[in-house]
Amino acid sequence: MIIPPLLLKSLATATRVAALTGAGISAESGVPTFRGANGLWKEMRAEELASMEGFLKNPALVWEWYAHRRAILQTVQPNAGHRALVDLERLYPGLVVITQNVDGLHRRAGSSRVYELHGNIERNSCTACGEPHPSTAVALRDGRPMCTRCGGLVRPDVVWFGELLPEEEWEESVRASRAADLFLSIGTSGLVFPAASLPLVARDAGAVVVEVNPEESPLTVAADVSLRGPAGEVLPALVEAARGVTRSPRA
Ligand code: APR
Repeated sequence: MIIPPLLLKSLATATRVAALTGAGISAESGVPTFRGANGLWKEMRAEELASMEGFLKNPALVWEWYAHRRAILQTVQPNAGHRALVDLERLYPGLVVITQNVDGLHRRAGSSRVYELHGNIERNSCTACGEPHPSTAVALRDGRPMCTRCGGLVRPDVVWFGELLPEEEWEESVRASRAADLFLSIGTSGLVFPAASLPLVARDAGAVVVEVNPEESPLTVAADVSLRGPAGEVLPALVEAARGVTRSPRA
């Protein structure tokens, strides 16, 4: 893969790197994306499965769907894209991964600074008393996920449409985007806000913004460099390029 001179220069001088990731980085692990060819939202209605209204209307259906997604995650592994971000973190200590993914694959790969903007599918809590519930410890009554402490409905700790992002994760993500001198936007369609605003926050603060996506996206216009290809191929090439440049970190 040809790495453009602007990116080679940025790899040589960068000291603060942040990476925003979306479903695309997990696609090569076998985790379906949302809006891709066989994307989840092509087959199913987001408002029915990823909203509080949908959950209250049919908690058994929504719980079953998350159980199905958790079962997929039991069978998959982080891929070369996730692992490349761990390698980049060794080259750029303090690298921050800001993910929209709820699959936990960045941590499983070994990334140490991960902000999960949309939550994590392995965590659950009671909608009434807040009691945390590991997925395996939820009582089902007619398929409805019930709290073992108060009998309330248990929901996955993921951010549904119309809900606020976790405050600390969001604030830290904005901080890291503003501070970055190199910002990677990997495997996201850039359609869901406020996460999709972060590459613009970074660009406006002076970072070199790099998009990694086999396809054009609304973020392409905001990117200084667009690398067209799957993350599992592009990111290892980026690591090789970073290892090959003579580092002269900007003061
Ligand atoms: N490598 C890199 N990018 C890829 C790959 C790959 N192997 N395969 C697909 N892509 C790209 C697609 O071209 C698309 O632009 O990844 C993007 C995935 O887009 P979406 O499916 O819309 O996923 P994402 O951007 O993460 O969605 C954002 O929407 O549904 C909500 O909460 C959910 O976090 C999610 C949010």
